[in-house]
Amino acid sequence: MVTLNDVKSNLEIKTYMEQGNVYLGSMGFTEHSTRHASIVSKIASDILKNLGYSEREVELAAIAGYLHDIGNVVSRHDHGQTGAILSMRILKDMGMEFNEIALIASAIGNHEEEYGQPVNNIAAALIIADKSDVHRGRVRNKEFATFDIHDRVNYAAEKSEIHVLKDEKAIQLNIKINTEICPVMEYFEIFLVRMMMCRKAAAFLNTKFQLVINDARLL
Ligand SMILES: [Fe+2]
Ligand SMILES: [Fe+2]
Repeated sequence: MVTLNDVKSNLEIKTYMEQGNVYLGSMGFTEHSTRHASIVSKIASDILKNLGYSEREVELAAIAGYLHDIGNVVSRHDHGQTGAILSMRILKDMGMEFNEIALIASAIGNHEEEYGQPVNNIAAALIIADKSDVHRGRVRNKEFATFDIHDRVNYAAEKSEIHVLKDEKAIQLNIKINTEICPVMEYFEIFLVRMMMCRKAAAFLNTKFQLVINDARLL
C-alpha cells in the first residue's frame, strides 16, 4: 500500500511541488511549498484520527493533504482540477488501488473555495486543514508598505490551530490575530467564504465548526 512517506520521497512529486511554488512566487502569492503541504497533510489526518476513522483513511487524508496543491505546477487557475488528474496518474504509477485513487482525486478536486464540496470524509478533512493554514510564515513579501490584504491577514496571524473536541463533537479553529497589523474585519473579508466551507465540511463529519479569534468565540 502506498504511504505518505512513499509520496514524500517520490522525485516526480517533489519536482512538481517545488516548481509550482516557484511559479506562485513569481505571481506574488503566499507560500505554497512543502511546508504548507506538510502542515495540511498533518492537520487533515489528525482530524480523521481524532474522530476515530480507520487507519487507512487517516493515511489517505495525509496523502491527499500533501498533494492537494500540486496542480499549481500547471497553473494557479483550477489547480484543484489539474492536481486531481495529475495525482491520479502518479498514484497509479506508484501502484495505488483504484478505489483509493478515486478518494484522493475527489478530495484534491474539491479543495478550492470557488466550488469545492465535502464529497467524502477525506475531502471534508482536507477542506478544513487547507483553509486553516493562515500564518505569518507564508508571507513572502518583505516590504510591509506594499502588503496586500492577503499578506496583511497572513502576517497578522500569529497562531492558527485546529482542535478536535471529541466530546463536544466539534472542530475548532483557534486563531490569534495581531490587530495592530490587521483588524479582525479584514480577516473576515477574506475568510468568510472559507469559514462557510469549513462549516459545511465539519457537518459532513458530523461535527460543528467553531471559530475562536483572540479568545473570543465567533462561531
Ligand atoms: Fe489550493
Ligand atoms: Fe492549499
